[in-house]
Amino acid sequence: VASPVEVVIEADRPGATIHPNVYGQFVEHLGRGIYEGIWVGEDSSIPNTRGYRNDVLAALKDLRVPLLRWPGGCFADQYHWRDGIGPRAQRPKRVNTSWGGVIEDNAFGTHEFLDLAEMLGAEVYVNGNLGTGTPREMAEWVEYITADGQSTQAELRRRNGRDKPWRLHYFAIGNEAWGCGGNMRPEYYVDLYNHYATFVKAPEDNQPKMIASGGHGDMTEWAEAISSGVEPNWSLRLDGISHHYYTLPNADWEKKGAALGFDEAAWFATLRQTLLMDDYIVANKEVLARNDPDGKYGFYVDEWGTWYDTEEGDNPGFLFQQNSLRDAVVAALNFHIFHDHADRVHMAVIAQMVNVLQAMILTDKEKMLLTPTYHAFHMYRPFHGATTLPARVRNAPEYRHGDGAIPGISVSAARDTDGKLQLALVNPDPGTPLTVHVAVQGGAVQRASGRLLTADAMDAHNSFAQPQAVRPRDYSVEAREGRLAIELPAKSIAVLVVE
Ligand code: AHR
Repeated sequence: VASPVEVVIEADRPGATIHPNVYGQFVEHLGRGIYEGIWVGEDSSIPNTRGYRNDVLAALKDLRVPLLRWPGGCFADQYHWRDGIGPRAQRPKRVNTSWGGVIEDNAFGTHEFLDLAEMLGAEVYVNGNLGTGTPREMAEWVEYITADGQSTQAELRRRNGRDKPWRLHYFAIGNEAWGCGGNMRPEYYVDLYNHYATFVKAPEDNQPKMIASGGHGDMTEWAEAISSGVEPNWSLRLDGISHHYYTLPNADWEKKGAALGFDEAAWFATLRQTLLMDDYIVANKEVLARNDPDGKYGFYVDEWGTWYDTEEGDNPGFLFQQNSLRDAVVAALNFHIFHDHADRVHMAVIAQMVNVLQAMILTDKEKMLLTPTYHAFHMYRPFHGATTLPARVRNAPEYRHGDGAIPGISVSAARDTDGKLQLALVNPDPGTPLTVHVAVQGGAVQRASGRLLTADAMDAHNSFAQPQAVRPRDYSVEAREGRLAIELPAKSIAVLVVE
């Protein structure tokens, strides 16, 4: 029997604030992410509110989505925003050349996206088209969204039924410029950023944070080039540098690994791969510490999550995948990494919200289910805007498999916005339960209560036949002699209030 892990929360040493937007979500014109997944149209037999499906809306409201990114992704660099405004019947149909070659009828456009974000109370992140758009097209899009008064684009927006501007919180110049966004060198991108961003103008009280599209994985050259090559002035802004990193079990784009039916080697490899997120953030933070010592720029991980092989029979361009307990553990480990880097990581956006990659929600026509990843996001809601607290861990186990080893526990503590002490624990080992003794520096503990997520199988998941197979259960424990002893099952996540 392993001896207990000892955790001491240093409640009197507050650290950085966890920006709620590290729990951001991504909706791209990709597969069934938007069409069917969110938007079914007003005439659908699926119950909807002005075209948005009611079941998905209700689940997202409950999740308290803080931020929505749209319209891509790779799709952003082929998207011409004027295709998606005006009467829907008159909008042009285009081929979605990024994803599956399907017809995009543009039913979901600027109004539909921004109205969705308003309904959810989410901040908005619009990704501009650098790849195939002009500076004028980009500038006019931002004017259309943000301008009040007599501007040409504001008048057009009013004719399309929206009087007041929407609030625009973030705007990005292109996406993955190193790849689908134009296969550019960082130096070339920096020049284009300077050029395009100069003409993105919005009223002072509705000025979006401006995002430069950065690297992925272990790349640091994009953060280097952007943070040294963009010099903000009265006509040019830069607020954040984006970065993407996907978790592939086999670290191989040709054979990524299966979403379900995997063995422990694949479970272990997936978790080891996902923990590289920390290395990549650390490496990029070092670059930024040199080039931006005052910390003006955020490091935004605006695409992350698992990416598996598509199932036979599914359209490979739709990136639909099932989601298991393993995905929930991946999510929780990444949350802890983002919390640890809260000083610089002010945004992280999982890919993607519905029916695509590591999704919160899956739909099959009128049916809908919540994935284990949804439950992880739901459990961590108290961490939105919370203040990080150091947690000292003694006697931490390792989780070993084959020749490899990763930390056998992950701990994150914070003071939430209601003043409560939140403690999150992840046991990544699928075979070994842990006993975790918890104390609070300089204070007595009475109890811990909250929710715990686990399941019997590593690939336990929710299906349309059994949509509740994996879901959190309540957990509470009373302190004995001033100390908590938390029983953390194998392969589990716990989020608890410590009192
Ligand atoms: O999220 C799917 C795709 O992954 C995005 O469109 C792109 O930015 C990334 O390569």
